[in-house]
Amino acid sequence: QGYFTYDPGFVSTASCESKITFIDGGKGQLLHRGYAIDDLAENSDYLSTCYLLLYGELPSAEEKKSFEDMIMHHTMVHEQIHQFFHGFRRDSHPMAVMCGLVGSLSAFYHDSLDISNERHREITAHRLISKMPTLAAMVYKYSRGQPFVYPRNDLTYAENFLYMMFSTPCEDYKVDPVLGRAMDKVFLLHADHEQNASTSTVRLAGSSGANPFACIAAGIAALWGPAHGGANEAVLNMLEEIGDESNIEEFIAKAKDKNDPFRLMGFGHRVYKNYDPRAKVMKATCDEVLDLLGIENEPLLKIARKLEKIALEDPYFIEKKLYPNVDFYSGIILKAIGIPVDMFTVIFALGRTPGWIAHWKEMIGGSYKIGRPRQLYTGETLRPVPKS
Ligand code: CMC
Repeated sequence: QGYFTYDPGFVSTASCESKITFIDGGKGQLLHRGYAIDDLAENSDYLSTCYLLLYGELPSAEEKKSFEDMIMHHTMVHEQIHQFFHGFRRDSHPMAVMCGLVGSLSAFYHDSLDISNERHREITAHRLISKMPTLAAMVYKYSRGQPFVYPRNDLTYAENFLYMMFSTPCEDYKVDPVLGRAMDKVFLLHADHEQNASTSTVRLAGSSGANPFACIAAGIAALWGPAHGGANEAVLNMLEEIGDESNIEEFIAKAKDKNDPFRLMGFGHRVYKNYDPRAKVMKATCDEVLDLLGIENEPLLKIARKLEKIALEDPYFIEKKLYPNVDFYSGIILKAIGIPVDMFTVIFALGRTPGWIAHWKEMIGGSYKIGRPRQLYTGETLRPVPKS
């Protein structure tokens, strides 16, 4: 049928060259432009990491200030986007609305259609990072039937997001800086992860010359599934379904049963065959947040910790090298901050935006071909249409 390799799920196929992110799955190492994720989480912040992903180096103090000012001064969205919301039912899943909203941005910012213009590519990249928190918070407000809250550009990126989420016309939400930093860390830990399903989708869509808003909307759609970004929502639902530590063994047994489709959500990864380094930072951040909020006995955290311990000692999980991934502890942090479960994957999308854009920019700025996989045809051979 031709001379090509058959690799379902792209288990062993590299689709591109990239200088952005490196993963050593065996060691459990994740580097952005050479910097380890735990080092970035400890000693940098989300917007500096966005800059790093986009431009290859961490910003100097001056570059940081001008990048932050520029991002924080483009946080407003076109007023007409407010009207666009009214086409959606209020009980729509927030990810469904996000796919539509982000795709619609190319109808507002026409310069994004000219991807051959480097300046336009830059502006679109900045617009996306600036406006994602505003759109995400609007999605939440719309789902709750509350008025939209306009951004406050004097706050940090993460604080402004929490402000837009939780302020009401009666009361401005006062963001605790510790929660602001925890939110920032959650965004940072999601910022990029090389050629995962959504990033590969962004690259594939972009390889046809589609505009970046359309490509990122495609990435958001790919992220939504429970095997990818939708896992953070699925983890919380699973922990709630387990309900009590005494039920953990039953769920572990279900996860090991080949005749049962249930999997331990937040466990396992295509590339990591060791502890996901993002999960380590997430676990520590989770402890900090619960401490700050004085939630010492969060029952879901107790279940999560015990579940992790039992799974890590179980021969099934050991043999298959299944460890907690980034989604295992993130939901507990988000829940403690007050973010509802159906918004978890939106938070992932917000955090992942600079990664998607950095990959799109890298591809468009270099030499590339339209992505066009082949197939192994297994259908009928040539046959005539029956004559009636
Ligand atoms: N629970 C129980 N068994 C599992 C799990 C799990 N969470 N994950 C993998 N396995 C088993 C699987 O049944 C298979 O067993 P066998 O070899 O006997 O058929 C083996 O481990 C390998 O699994 P796979 O599905 O072939 O591995 P994959 O690389 O195609 O899938 C994965 C990776 C992340 C989709 C999968 O581990 C999974 O479904 N995990 C749960 C969902 C989840 O947490 N996703 C978030 C991923 S991290 C965030 C992100 O990047 O989006």
